[in-house]
Amino acid sequence: MIRQSELGPKVPGEFRIAHLSDLHISADRSGLRSRWRSWVGKSQAKNLVNLQTVLSDLAAQDIDHIVITGDLTNGAKEEEFDALKQALGEWLQSDRLTVLPGNHDLSYRRVRPGMALHECPRKLWHFVSHFPGLFPSHYPPEMRHAKKQLFPFVKLLGSGRIALIVIDTTGHLTTKAGPFNSFGQVGLAQLAELRAILKNPWLHNCIKIVAMHHHPMIVPIATMFDSFKYLFQSKQLLDLLYESRIELVIHGHKHHPFCWQSHTFRGHDMIVICAGPPDAYAGDKSFDLVYNIYSIVGHRISIHYRTCPASQRPKTEFSHVHAAKPER
Ligand SMILES: [Fe+2]
Ligand SMILES: [Fe+2]
Repeated sequence: MIRQSELGPKVPGEFRIAHLSDLHISADRSGLRSRWRSWVGKSQAKNLVNLQTVLSDLAAQDIDHIVITGDLTNGAKEEEFDALKQALGEWLQSDRLTVLPGNHDLSYRRVRPGMALHECPRKLWHFVSHFPGLFPSHYPPEMRHAKKQLFPFVKLLGSGRIALIVIDTTGHLTTKAGPFNSFGQVGLAQLAELRAILKNPWLHNCIKIVAMHHHPMIVPIATMFDSFKYLFQSKQLLDLLYESRIELVIHGHKHHPFCWQSHTFRGHDMIVICAGPPDAYAGDKSFDLVYNIYSIVGHRISIHYRTCPASQRPKTEFSHVHAAKPER
């Protein structure tokens, strides 16, 4: 059901998650690169200002937690991470913010001959090291499950009734060059670990939200570059998410916001939402910025697609109510 609504005052027990994606914070000052980027797509010079505008908007929405689904930076450069973290400020706490890597966060740059591993700018650990404390080293004790690797990880939100399950889809991008590093990969080890934790009986009573960067299904191709954005092992992942009765999957990567909803496919309803970058709809005549808010009350998720004009009072365009699971 899609209906017009405002995100009203928070009700008792409500938990609000803001979903941002593909910020592409860029610190590149190169004139040549700027011209190239303006030719292949939108200029990224405004991205930091856009993030600051969105952050000031969501601060007024009583948001409890922010999830940023990858491509936080444009080139995984130190100055980009620094600018990003400065903008995020007090949100940089594990119980207030969850981030995960996108292909841009692992950088396009080649590893130079003789470069030591710890110098390589596009390793996953490099991304993780920028956010100390945001990546749990163990699963919640209630799950009684030993953690074997960095991803997936699980955060319990909203007094433990919401399980946020985070997957890394950047796979083995470090071995690829050019447009081929837009492909995603879940990896067999991560799939096995994900399969094991999703069987955990303790999670059965939680609302389960999966966050990742790449889209888990085939999506329409809008540009020639979209052909290179495929997620390997997407069928195995989708099967697992359906079997595990995941209520909501949130992701980025595709720079066009959309919502994909199945009705009782394989006996379960699941919603998949791509947030897109904040300026996904901004053009020559519009400066509107967008992001999503998921409001969770009991077992119901309300999905608010929020529009945030830079110079006007922000408003909610419409919202989508999803009964995550029947009341028990
Ligand atoms: Fe992106
Ligand atoms: Fe991406």
